[in-house]
Amino acid sequence: DEVYRGGIAGRRPAVPTAFPALERRARWAMSRRAYAYVAGGAGSEETVRANRAAFGRLRVVPRMLRGVGERDTSVELFGQRLAHPLLLAPIGALDLVHRRADLAVAEGAAEAGVPMIVSNQAGFPMEEIGPRARTGAGWWFQLYWSTSDDLVDSFLARAETAGAGAVVVTLDTTVLGWRPRDLDLGHLPFARGLGIAQYTSDPVFARLARETAAGPRRASPRPTPAAVRTLVEISRHHPGRFADNLRSPLPRAAVETFLRVYSRPTLGWDDIATLRSRTRLPIVLKGVLHPDDARRALDAGVDGVLVSNHGGRQVDGSVASLDALPGVVEAVDGRAPVLLDSGVRSGSDVARALALGATAVCLGRPFAYGLALAGAAGVAQVTRDVLAELDLTLALAGARTPADLELAPFATTEPGV
Ligand code: FNR
Repeated sequence: DEVYRGGIAGRRPAVPTAFPALERRARWAMSRRAYAYVAGGAGSEETVRANRAAFGRLRVVPRMLRGVGERDTSVELFGQRLAHPLLLAPIGALDLVHRRADLAVAEGAAEAGVPMIVSNQAGFPMEEIGPRARTGAGWWFQLYWSTSDDLVDSFLARAETAGAGAVVVTLDTTVLGWRPRDLDLGHLPFARGLGIAQYTSDPVFARLARETAAGPRRASPRPTPAAVRTLVEISRHHPGRFADNLRSPLPRAAVETFLRVYSRPTLGWDDIATLRSRTRLPIVLKGVLHPDDARRALDAGVDGVLVSNHGGRQVDGSVASLDALPGVVEAVDGRAPVLLDSGVRSGSDVARALALGATAVCLGRPFAYGLALAGAAGVAQVTRDVLAELDLTLALAGARTPADLELAPFATTEPGV
């Protein structure tokens, strides 16, 4: 209603409505490194394209005269009723995209009434982001499982204290994918001191950095700018302890510590089983693509799964996320929520994922482009556009709820988008 009324009044939106134009405009507005980091995928980027092509093959069959004056897309997730079946996916290093990064995302998400999943690699500590999201539909915390168990426990405790509604454990990034666009620009945001605020604000991380500095791997006396930035961040959150360390080996040590603790490649199902006793938050496993992994997840006591291939940023040639969804939905068999991300660009995409059995959907790159163009207002508009199109799609397809949507019983042979 609001979108149409704005149009009738001649108001033009602050950011383009359709994704291709949104991406084009954001590309102009962003630095080369920022755009490469956000848009890029793994290897030849076949998986990025496959995610889109999978949506292109799925067709809704609109039904007529079904009296759809009232639509309801609300959904219950872990005891919370959400007005919309949409969340903002965790996106790290947004301090590369916008000065206010996750703070602006939280404000935009709150304005649009959807929860934000705060990345482990956020540009601000979760304690600063959470309150801004809490005025809306709340926030969840996304965890990369560190090599340090103490750090994992510290992150979980902080998420509980700061008011997260759930913890999302990302399984598909135990090592970073092969990303040619970033490699060609010599760019790793974290090594430049971006996206490390959860670490620099953490007391366990601060201890680990001090231990590294005092240990045998003494760092060079000439710290890189990124190392100094890391130290300044640590000093901001732990004043006093670090203030006199600027000329010590600590700056380099802090960056080395980050690279060492960031993620645990040896992670296995046994670790997941321990998680249940370590947090009272609902646990969602992100990156599940195989039905057997979904079954094992439920056996390990988790509360939900997120079908995702990380937006095609990890395994080039991976199965498209949407193609993996039906198998996971069947394996879970209604015992837990099944979320989906990777390739969602519009309300029509959300409708198709829901029709295929997803409980809710996460939006990724589009909101990052909204952030690049117009900060919190851009995030809010991109999100509300998706919600508005979802609602219209239901109405026009004769569905009061996503469960009423009917899919064509065949896959088209079109190459997709
Ligand atoms: C991500 N994603 C991600 N996932 C995660 O669990 N933690 C993170 O820190 C990040 N960081 C991140 C940065 C950028 C720039 C992108 C594009 C993605 C993955 C994200 O949560 C989600 O799975 C994908 O964005 C979904 O794909 P689309 O819809 O963006 O193509």
